[in-house]
Amino acid sequence: MPSRPPELLPPGTAATPIACLSLEEWPAARDALSRAQGAYCTAVDFTPKAGRIVLLPGEDGTLARVLYGLGETGEDRLVAGKLPGLLPPGTYRFETRDGFDAAEAALAWLLGGYRFARYRTASPSPGLVAPEGVDAAEIVRIAVAVAMGRDLVNTPANDLGPAEIEAAARALAERHGAAVAVTLGEDLARDFPLVHAVGAASPRAPRLIDLTWGPADAPRVTLVGKGVAFDTGGLDIKPSSGMLLMKKDMGGAAAALAAADMVMGAGLRLRLRLLIPAVENAVAGNAFRPGDVLASRAGLSVEIGNTDAEGRLILADALCLADAEEPDLIVDFATLTGAARVALGPDLPAFFTEDEDLAGAVMQAGARAIDPVWRMPLHKPYAKLLDSKVADINNVSGGPFAGAITAALFLRRFAPKTRRHVHLDLYGWNPTTKPGRPEGGEVQGARLVYRLLKDRYGA
Ligand code: BES
Ligand code: MN
Ligand code: ZN
Repeated sequence: MPSRPPELLPPGTAATPIACLSLEEWPAARDALSRAQGAYCTAVDFTPKAGRIVLLPGEDGTLARVLYGLGETGEDRLVAGKLPGLLPPGTYRFETRDGFDAAEAALAWLLGGYRFARYRTASPSPGLVAPEGVDAAEIVRIAVAVAMGRDLVNTPANDLGPAEIEAAARALAERHGAAVAVTLGEDLARDFPLVHAVGAASPRAPRLIDLTWGPADAPRVTLVGKGVAFDTGGLDIKPSSGMLLMKKDMGGAAAALAAADMVMGAGLRLRLRLLIPAVENAVAGNAFRPGDVLASRAGLSVEIGNTDAEGRLILADALCLADAEEPDLIVDFATLTGAARVALGPDLPAFFTEDEDLAGAVMQAGARAIDPVWRMPLHKPYAKLLDSKVADINNVSGGPFAGAITAALFLRRFAPKTRRHVHLDLYGWNPTTKPGRPEGGEVQGARLVYRLLKDRYGA
């Protein structure tokens, strides 16, 4: 059963008003309440701390108004995302006032109302009326794209292999009139040898998905997403604790698909290309091995120091393809390293780029889109940690240091012509529920990239 798609009801629909209040606004707002309602707030000890709610009855006992706490101004811009889980069934609208960003609150609501309902029905979530004066279609498009990406991450690997990732890309292309070319299975051996090798041990054939959209003469932007449907680690097998969540190892592909959905839905003036190497990193007699030396599309020979560093291998071939046409910008999304998570935790993807202006724009877009990231350095001297004694490069450093940086430096070797390259190392999962971020699969970086592309290339 698919999750109900996010929607906003038409303006003017009868609805219970919600007053979203900051702590600073509370004294004045309380004074403006009726005697009975003010007394009720006092009786239940309501103050508008972030996430607190009070349901106010009218004279007849029906629900008349909701007061909702925003906390300190700017404390959590997604705090309204908790409302769908707090409110009784019904239809609601935000009261508008100066200084309250109703568009942001509506987006938070839709993001927070997401439930993964493929295997059991979720209870219906309350409805929200589109606030006056906002671009409701844009908000819904963003929320729909995020829900699509979250569904992909949440779907377990038994129901989501490389073929289903391809199906998701084809469905997206169909919706937006994009073209899709796929290189499948044994056909990968010559042109995408690393994708071929990583995917070899799975009965579900690996593939390189190549989607293009938009006029050929527009600025070219290429998104690349790591699509590992499940990461056992390969012969360097993960312990059970490390494998448990590895259905989410296609979280980069999900984010890239979601970003592409937003870009195409908005009709941005650019030529978009989306590359997804989709594989399952499995264990079998024909699996690639530690110590193997593999060819790559770029011509560099790669020694396999660890079969669990599979993401950078499949991305290397995809990035080489992206790099060949020297696009204006490459962004890759990948659940690439545990080291990035140790450094920044689950909520803050690491990003890497050599271009200072682009780095600033990425930080800014993340802040505006409430999709935060943090920059880490492409520290060149660490590149020698990837030296191999038998091949051009090793896929791991072997040592314990700077794992996210060496992974990023590895990727850079395969896109040498493109200076404007952003690599995002993300987690793709919310370990616990926070406003607008329900526990489970998460799409990270997509709203940021959409914002960045909108600023850079215009609507
Ligand atoms: N998919 C994992 C990275 C990962 C692990 C992301 C846990 C988020 C949470 C990746 O393929 C991997 O296994 N990376 C290894 C690399 C190591 C072998 C150099 C890692 O980070 O441990
Ligand atoms: Mn791995
Ligand atoms: Zn992986």
